[in-house]
Amino acid sequence: MNVAILGTGYVGLSTGVCLSEIGHRVVCIDLDEQKINNLIQGISPIYEPGLENLLIKNIEVGRMEFTTSHRDGLKGAEIIIIAVGTPQKNDGAADLSYLEQAVKDISIHLEQSAIVVLKSTVPVGTNEYIKSILDDRCSKQAAIEIISNPEFLRQGSAIMDTMKADRIIIGYANREAANKVLEMYRPLNVPFLLTSIRSAEMIKYASNSFLATKISFINEVANLCEAVGADIKEVAEGMGKDKRIGEAFLRPGIGYGGSCFPKDVKALLHTADLHGVHFSLLKETIAINDLQQETLVRKAMNRFGDLKGKKIALLGLAFKPETDDMREAPSIKISRLLTNLGAEVVAYDPVAKDNARKILGDTITYSSSINEAVLNSDAVFIITEWKEIKYLDMAKLLKNMRHPIIFDGRNCLDEERVRACEALEYYPIGRPAI
Ligand code: UGA
Repeated sequence: MNVAILGTGYVGLSTGVCLSEIGHRVVCIDLDEQKINNLIQGISPIYEPGLENLLIKNIEVGRMEFTTSHRDGLKGAEIIIIAVGTPQKNDGAADLSYLEQAVKDISIHLEQSAIVVLKSTVPVGTNEYIKSILDDRCSKQAAIEIISNPEFLRQGSAIMDTMKADRIIIGYANREAANKVLEMYRPLNVPFLLTSIRSAEMIKYASNSFLATKISFINEVANLCEAVGADIKEVAEGMGKDKRIGEAFLRPGIGYGGSCFPKDVKALLHTADLHGVHFSLLKETIAINDLQQETLVRKAMNRFGDLKGKKIALLGLAFKPETDDMREAPSIKISRLLTNLGAEVVAYDPVAKDNARKILGDTITYSSSINEAVLNSDAVFIITEWKEIKYLDMAKLLKNMRHPIIFDGRNCLDEERVRACEALEYYPIGRPAI
């Protein structure tokens, strides 16, 4: 099939390479010339495991192209996927301006009939709004059908998540269009669910908000475990064995971050408010998460009394491993709190350093290795559970620190290795300190 994709962010690019890999001809359109020039040469604008290999491979076999021209990119497209960002506005609502621009571009340049597949996360009712704009603006020869097809891939495992998705949601009004989109996905051989358009839009927000709430719940249980002397590792394992609860997303930590959970929970809350539905659970999810991002600083304050002049090494900056994404990363709030309290912050991240610098500037120092970051530090904060941080050389680390103290915000260090380092003071989340 001929597929055009508008937007070359995580969703657009990952979808593009995967559809191309299963045999479709894909053209990705983006207004950013520099980005498109790089992509033509097989250079990905984002760090995402496996993406660049598939990109290069599919460009070479001629199934993948990139352009800044909507006229060229939309020519002959049977399916047009919109995967532009829907960031958060000040009031918590989703900002649809990129989406509106994409729709305008389609209506100006599309000359044939096509199915428009909306992958961007959008509030309930948006697909119908988009369809009405397209119906008004497109020429009589170009009949448009719209499909709501929310995306569930995670950064850091985007390719696997697309190739082996748990489910594909197809929200439709026209069954023929739904069948055509199903045909596009058929080679992936993953389960699918046909729903109404409004339900599909809701599934996305409800799923992300549920997962975020699960994280806030387990973080509160972890805090309670600390107070009563229980161990969250055992508690979460025991809970997760119940199939109704499930083991996933029961890892306590320093709160969720990223470009999706924070904005989607707020957007769902905004929708609830608009419709007079009192969804106070979501308010708590957000409030717990905000507080949880401060937990390592609170623990360090308890330990030291005062953080003025203390050198704190942050290991990891990205909101999670295997990504260079810094959007809403807990490391931002933690760095700001620490520097406000007069601490000196030295940070290390294998890939997110440049993006972190754009947000935090020179308020903190950036190191090029774990050992450089921890040199003469008073404490280490583990922020992101990158493999090299999980398996760091503990003996070497301790030798270089002024005080051998680790606050592990991800409970990622192996307990036996920690116990083997007698000099080490170790503070995990929701578990007894060692
Ligand atoms: C999330 C969803 O998991 C995807 O299904 C969805 O498609 C995506 O948002 C989106 O809407 O685009 P993502 O933000 O990439 O994916 O990352 P997750 O792996 O879900 O992690 C989000 C945050 O939750 C991270 O900060 C992570 O550290 C935290 N987390 C996750 C926990 O603190 N505990 C857990 O048990 C799991």
